[in-house]
Parts: sequence; structure tokens; C-alpha cells
Amino acid sequence: RPRVFSGIQPTADSFHLGNYLGAIRQWVEMQDTYDAFYCVVDLHAITVGHDPNRLRERTLLAAAQLLAAGLDPERCTLFVQSHVAEHSQLSWILGCLTGFGEASRMTQFKDKTQRQGVEAATVGLFTYPVLMAADILLYDTDQVPVGEDQRQHLELTRDLAQRFNNRFGETFRVPEAYIIKETAKIYDLQEPRVKMSKSASSPNGIIELLDDPKVSAKRIRSAVTDSGREVRFDEEEKPGVSNLLTILSALTRRSIPELEDAYAGKGYGDLKRDVADAVVEFVTPFRERTFALLEDRETLDGILARGADRARAVASEKLRQVHDRLGFVPAK
Ligand code: TYM
Repeated sequence: RPRVFSGIQPTADSFHLGNYLGAIRQWVEMQDTYDAFYCVVDLHAITVGHDPNRLRERTLLAAAQLLAAGLDPERCTLFVQSHVAEHSQLSWILGCLTGFGEASRMTQFKDKTQRQGVEAATVGLFTYPVLMAADILLYDTDQVPVGEDQRQHLELTRDLAQRFNNRFGETFRVPEAYIIKETAKIYDLQEPRVKMSKSASSPNGIIELLDDPKVSAKRIRSAVTDSGREVRFDEEEKPGVSNLLTILSALTRRSIPELEDAYAGKGYGDLKRDVADAVVEFVTPFRERTFALLEDRETLDGILARGADRARAVASEKLRQVHDRLGFVPAK
């Protein structure tokens, strides 16, 4: 079976609707057709200042949310990045193959340092995409389900794989980004031309999956639309309405044209009510499952320990091969 790998950062208490529709939903669907590896990337989460107690909590919360979303430890490998030391080890090696200029062109780094300037950023934030490449390349990954914002990092990953293979011999599989066009970018409810983001969105612009569903419903009701009346998908003229249609279409699995027909003669209020209902219907059982999973710490620890064992078996073999290709003398 082809391999899938993806990761998510434990940098907030709750995942948001963009994380779910852009990535996690695909992770769940791919479990049966792929040999799937999914990772809570705690090493990535320390690239910006963090609080240790919170990171501990958020890592467990992230794992619980992924299980609540439908990851099944019998059908996929779910693990925590820092449990598999090979990620850091390969990252160093790939860093030595990455051009300084090449890394400087990563738009996410530029975005994240825009406000405070690069002087205030850590070297870890700068080399973050190299660690991401290591995550992916350790597992001979075929497909990487992510949102649109990760596309450039995937390009770097592919370049690094090809570069290594050219210089040192065929070692890495060259992965592909798996990006679902319809949900690749879910937008901020208050600023529907910018992506929904845990770091940049205002509280009212973001739907957090673990929030009280009443709060989420209220945020949807106060989402920014436009001065028109027609419920129509048009990202240029109607970014707010289009975003709501995208969300509703994804959650109800009805196509956008079908929804446009259904709202002919109806108003934005009807659309918002239905989006709110669909979100509440999704998050209500999701939250219950997440909180139940967190109660049973022993089971959760067991799932992550088994996941790390399975991941390590694959990763250590790949790293051994990499060391050999590079000319590192093996420890006897
Ligand atoms: P992270 O933790 O920021 O986000 C997790 C996933 O959610 C997607 N996403 C969105 N999709 C649609 N609309 C949005 N508004 C939206 N916001 C976030 C992201 O694209 C991502 O797929 N660098 C990665 C984590 C990572 C990784 C990896 C991913 C580390 N190693 C290896 C894949 C493979 C990140 O920061 O995602």
C-alpha cells in the first residue's frame, strides 16, 4: 500500500475548522487505502516561545482530538514527534543540504517574522521546514495531506529528496502534496480574504472545535458577508458567503451548485443558520469523544507508545541507510 504521512502542531488548546477541513478529514479518509503515519509535531511547537506545562497538555489534547476525529490506532500509526529521535537527526543532515537562500525564501517564515523582524526569530523557526522535510522523508511517503499553506514546504521537501538522491544515490521517495482544492484554505469569518489561523485570527474569526458549540454558532451568525443578498459562490465579490458555502458543502457533502440552487430566493440569515447547525452537529460529539479520551490517560499513553514503536522501526532503518550513504562509520 502507498504511504501517507502528515503532521499537526500542538500550539493551541483546540484545533480549528481549517485544520479539520483542510487536513484532518483527509487523514481519516486515507487510513484504509494507505499505510498511514500521523504525527503530533511537538518539536515544531517550540520554534516560537512556549510554556512547558501547556505544551504537555496540548500534545495530549492534540492526540485525543485526532482520535476523536476518527483516526483509529488499529488502522494508522499515531505518534508524537519527539518520541522518535530520528526526526531531529535527519533534520540536521537535511539542513546541511539546504541553501541559506533557499530557506530564506519560505513565505511562511517571512509572514511569521513580518511583525517583529527576523532578528527576533529563532533559528528553529527558520529551519522549521527542514524538520518538516525530515518528518516526511523518513517514511518513504507518497502523499502528504495538508492545506494550501504547506504547499511551498512540500516543494522544498521534494527538492531536498531529489538533491540527496542525486548526490548520494537513490535513498528517498519523492513525496507529493495531497491538497483538496475545495477545502485547501478555510478563511477567517471576520476577514474572509485571510486564512483562518490559530495565531493570526481574532477570536470571532475562528471556529475552535473544542469551544462551546453555542459560541461557534454565534460566531457563524456574526460572520462578515457583503451588502448583496444573493447566496452565490464568488470568491472575488463574495468572499464571506463563499467561505460559508465551502464550510457547509464540506460538512454536509452537498455540492456548491446544489447549495446555490437550494438558497435561491433565500437570504444570508438562512445560510448562516444552516452552517451553524452543521457545525454544531459536527462538534458536539467530537468534543464529547475528545474529553472522554483525555479522561483515560493510560489508554492514550498506550496508543502513542505503540505508535512511536511502529514509527521508530521505519525511521531508524531509513536513517541507517542515510548514514551509510553519507559515509558515516557505523558504531560497532
Ligand atoms: P499546522 O499545525 O499549522 O496545521 C495543520 C494542518 O491544517 C492545515 N490548515 C488549514 N487548512 C485549510 N484552511 C486553513 N485555514 C488551515 N489552517 C491550517 C495546514 O495546512 C496543515 O495541513 N508545518 C505543519 C505541520 C507539519 C507537517 C509535517 C505537515 C510538520 N511536519 C509533515 C505535514 C507533513 C503545520 O504547521 O501545520
